[in-house]
Amino acid sequence: MQYLKDIITNATIAIKSVNSLVELDKVRIQYLGRKGELTCCFQNLSLLPPEKRADIAKTINKTKEKMIQIFNLRKAELKQIELLSTLNSEKIDITLPGKRINTGSIHPVTHTIERVECFFTKLGFDIESGPEIEDAFHNFDALNIKPMHPARTDQDTFFFNQNLMLRTHTSGAQIRIMENSQPPFRYIVPGRVYRNDYDKTHTPMFHQLEGILVNENINFLQLKGILNDFVYDFFKGEEKIELRFRPSYFPFTEPSAEIDIKNKNGEWLEILGCGMVHPNVFHSVGINSEKYSGFAFGIGIERLAMLAYGIHDLRSFFENDLRFLKQFK
Ligand code: DAH
Repeated sequence: MQYLKDIITNATIAIKSVNSLVELDKVRIQYLGRKGELTCCFQNLSLLPPEKRADIAKTINKTKEKMIQIFNLRKAELKQIELLSTLNSEKIDITLPGKRINTGSIHPVTHTIERVECFFTKLGFDIESGPEIEDAFHNFDALNIKPMHPARTDQDTFFFNQNLMLRTHTSGAQIRIMENSQPPFRYIVPGRVYRNDYDKTHTPMFHQLEGILVNENINFLQLKGILNDFVYDFFKGEEKIELRFRPSYFPFTEPSAEIDIKNKNGEWLEILGCGMVHPNVFHSVGINSEKYSGFAFGIGIERLAMLAYGIHDLRSFFENDLRFLKQFK
């Protein structure tokens, strides 16, 4: 009997001193496990004289019940403590200010291209692309730019060899389109172009957007109408914009014109070249120039962006200065 009393006293002390459920379980095994101290008492019953066994067995059972009760109490306590400590460690202070996520912004050149594309796709133009490394046929010959034309000297063009170069304009894409499609068609081709030039208004890489439309009975008035609408649509947010068509010369169009826009200082700035596709160009791609006519245009994307955003130095587009770029969020 004394032994049983000792067991319950020791067990109670052990149970109270543990601080985690894992430790508690170890104590449980020590007393109540298959080889535990209390379990052994049951096994040793057979060593007692038969008349005492019933009484002692009853006491052992009571001791066991009591011990289980103490265990369960401590278990509930420890569970509560562990829960509180997890709640504490995972606590979220919802009054803290949020962390700002730094997002990028669309580059003004990309944004300008998207706006131009938006206008022309509404008029049924499809978007195409052409290679930035171009051959002499597509960049020059087929566009009626004869071998002695000044645009061919390495002053402007980055040549890889006599036949291969970085394209100096997107007009080569006109040729590729006409080689691969039968009129009627209308396409625009945005892209990078390269020229050996660097100052406030020239960078060795810049962007153009080429347009070409070919069908029967296409005339200059339609060209003028579409480009007029385009310019007014593009600058529709501005109070008043002034635009002029100025006669010009391009080997691949006849007649040719350029559109200038007046900037805030009253200076005229050229934003695009255009004209009626030259019969020689049709000839070089095998389109019958007696049956079909067409117009083409090449828009200077950076020029448009400079006017739209009031930017004075072209180079700022490509220096990746975050202070500049962040203004376009
Ligand atoms: N390719 C010309 C340039 O780089 C721009 C241009 C002018 C494109 C007239 C055209 C056009 O399609 O018809 O300056």
